[in-house]
Amino acid sequence: MTTPSTLAPIGQSRPGSEWWRTAVIYQIYPRSFADASGDGLGDLPGITSRLGSLRELGVDAIWLSPFQRSPQKDAGYDVADYCDVDPIFGTLADFDAMLTAAHEAGIRVIVDLVPNHSSDQHEWFQAAVSSPPGSPERARYIFRDGTGANGQEPPNNWESVFGGPAWTRVAEPDGTPGQWYLHLFDSSQPDFDWSNPEVQEEFRRVLRFWLDRGVDGFRVDVAHGLVKEEGLPDYTPDPHGGSMGGDSAKAPYWGQDGVHEIYRDWHRLLAEYDGDRALAAEAWLPTVAETALWVRSDEMHQAFNFAYLETDWAAADLREVIDESLAEYAAVGAPSTWVLSNHDVVRHASRLALTAENPQGHGIGPNSPGQPDPVLGLRRARAASTVMLALPGSAYIYQAEELGLPEAIDLPDDARQDPTWFRTKGERYGRDGCRVPLPWEADAPAYGFNTTGDAWLPQPEEWSRLARDAQEGDADSTLTLYKTLLHARRAHTLGTGTLSWLTGYDEDVLAFTNGDVTVIANLGAADVDLPDGEIVAASEPVTGRSLPSDTAVWITA
Ligand code: NOJ
Repeated sequence: MTTPSTLAPIGQSRPGSEWWRTAVIYQIYPRSFADASGDGLGDLPGITSRLGSLRELGVDAIWLSPFQRSPQKDAGYDVADYCDVDPIFGTLADFDAMLTAAHEAGIRVIVDLVPNHSSDQHEWFQAAVSSPPGSPERARYIFRDGTGANGQEPPNNWESVFGGPAWTRVAEPDGTPGQWYLHLFDSSQPDFDWSNPEVQEEFRRVLRFWLDRGVDGFRVDVAHGLVKEEGLPDYTPDPHGGSMGGDSAKAPYWGQDGVHEIYRDWHRLLAEYDGDRALAAEAWLPTVAETALWVRSDEMHQAFNFAYLETDWAAADLREVIDESLAEYAAVGAPSTWVLSNHDVVRHASRLALTAENPQGHGIGPNSPGQPDPVLGLRRARAASTVMLALPGSAYIYQAEELGLPEAIDLPDDARQDPTWFRTKGERYGRDGCRVPLPWEADAPAYGFNTTGDAWLPQPEEWSRLARDAQEGDADSTLTLYKTLLHARRAHTLGTGTLSWLTGYDEDVLAFTNGDVTVIANLGAADVDLPDGEIVAASEPVTGRSLPSDTAVWITA
């Protein structure tokens, strides 16, 4: 059923119709995708071995979360060597083999780049702590003297995104208590000082290293955080702001003007390469309009649409964010992107059925309020994906959302590994529940994640029925739904299409056309009459011309 890609062949440029404007990009979280070595952690050969299933699914590109050398204090978002593969994931040769195989399968590859901070095991940070205050080694990071009589208090009141203070004090080389360094995330993730030309030059080298190997682009981690306000003024975040920086006020460490010059520089660097290489911003900003600043024509190419991800399952709110996204990104000549799940948020098959507020990124566990009904969650997730994949622009899929995988809520406390869990002393569950190794085969050890049965996080028993092989060929499975949607999305060129809202429907109904496809989604309680035409995709079986609650369909004339 795979439809040939309508995108330019890999390696070719097509100004104005670049591949990233319409691509469906599948996020792989390497440690949980497929484990060829059998040690319980996924790896690059595992990815290579499963590329066929992604080709069959019908995605255009994959984005790999970090696989570079790292002590894994934040699952690889703490990089110790930006130009090498961590041995738990394989070798550079394994990376090259994976990249070649992906390209042969017609799948582009985006890698994660983590420029806001390194690991504390990076050789630069090791040199910084063993060098004196004021040294060039310290100037690559943000070291400051403490406050208070003996410098025993942190330089300012900033808090880590993962909880607790954003500063940690070092012992000077002579053993006396010394300066403090800034880490917006875990203490093992010191922030670089991006005003230092040496840092800027080092990341140009890193970009070239991966571009020369043939990658098609980068997902840029914390793309809104690299530049900090001069003087590092005190700041107290809005307690209702998102945990990854979607704070409602202008924080002195998010969205500073100077950050854009960095991306203009990178834009020019990528433009030296053929094949329309792309930069995608992970920037959690308060509004769509602000996020659009990251994708002005001389900066990045895409920005994740977290406003869309954070929108409740409510038709009026969705209409508003869709309109706003299409308008704001079009105003700067960029495509809108769409996303419902990733490795930092509660999977949407659970999130859309939560009955109490759950701030993004905090995870949920067995004692969280508003426990989701799994049946309702899956039903809404299928409908939400049916809407998302009909929207013009580029869409991101998080691994195994095509299986309808829910959040793993009942993980035992001693299995949890997210630094958020530790830094908040268990107050926030963190993100482990969306990172559990995937089920491939219902009756195999670790559900086919590997052949040994080991898994770095325990897989819930009920996942055997969600395994990929259990869903293959089942007309009603979520996997079949995604295949149908991706196939029809290509066949009807929805990525390049134009959305027009249909009138005459209730407030609770999303109804629009994109090209020759009509999309109707019923978010209300009462059934909705469907217009004439052939139903080419339906999130639930539809009998007659009546669309039940929490169901979405695509209809062609
Ligand atoms: C955003 C990443 O998606 C998240 O997983 C990570 O913990 C932080 N940035 C810090 O790198």
